[in-house]
Amino acid sequence: MRQDYSFKDYRAEAEAVHARIQQAHPGAKNLLEVACGTGKHLEHLKAHYEAVGLDLDAKQLEEARRRNPEVVFYQGDMRTFDLGRTFDAITCLFSAIGHAGSVEGLEAAVYTMARHLNPGGVLLVEPWLSPQVWQNNRMRCLSTSPTSRWPV
Ligand SMILES: C[S@@+](CC[C@H](N)C(=O)[O-])C[C@H]1O[C@@H](n2cnc3c(N)ncnc32)[C@H](O)[C@@H]1O
Repeated sequence: MRQDYSFKDYRAEAEAVHARIQQAHPGAKNLLEVACGTGKHLEHLKAHYEAVGLDLDAKQLEEARRRNPEVVFYQGDMRTFDLGRTFDAITCLFSAIGHAGSVEGLEAAVYTMARHLNPGGVLLVEPWLSPQVWQNNRMRCLSTSPTSRWPV
């Protein structure tokens, strides 16, 4: 199924991600995007980093490779992957972390991503929902822009 993410400004989001990474880890040079989908963030992040992508879905990866022929992509599960190398920055964007599926899955995904970080590296996970959307015991969410939800 093809999803319509036309409301997203991937360039602006990638620049916000880049700024946040450099703030936390100045000089970060390489980056892994976990659950990269069709590679739309990487299309912009690859200008700043030696970038690598990972996703579970072969079809998403096919499109990501077509869009980013110079980027290396791996098929893998965020909870269990093992690339045998480490990175200065790892991102998991657009609520993809929700696919971890359970608290145990979330712990496994964060552990798996964290063990792929270099010392001082940055793990940036965009949440499904942030504490800010919980107001007066009700959930309110008008914005889809991640930059309005950071830092988390
Ligand atoms: C909402 S899309 C986000 C894609 C991309 N990050 C973006 O911003 O366009 C969620 C992605 O998570 C991937 N995914 C789902 N379960 C996964 C898992 N267990 N491990 C890795 N990727 C997974 C899907 O194939 C899909 O590409």
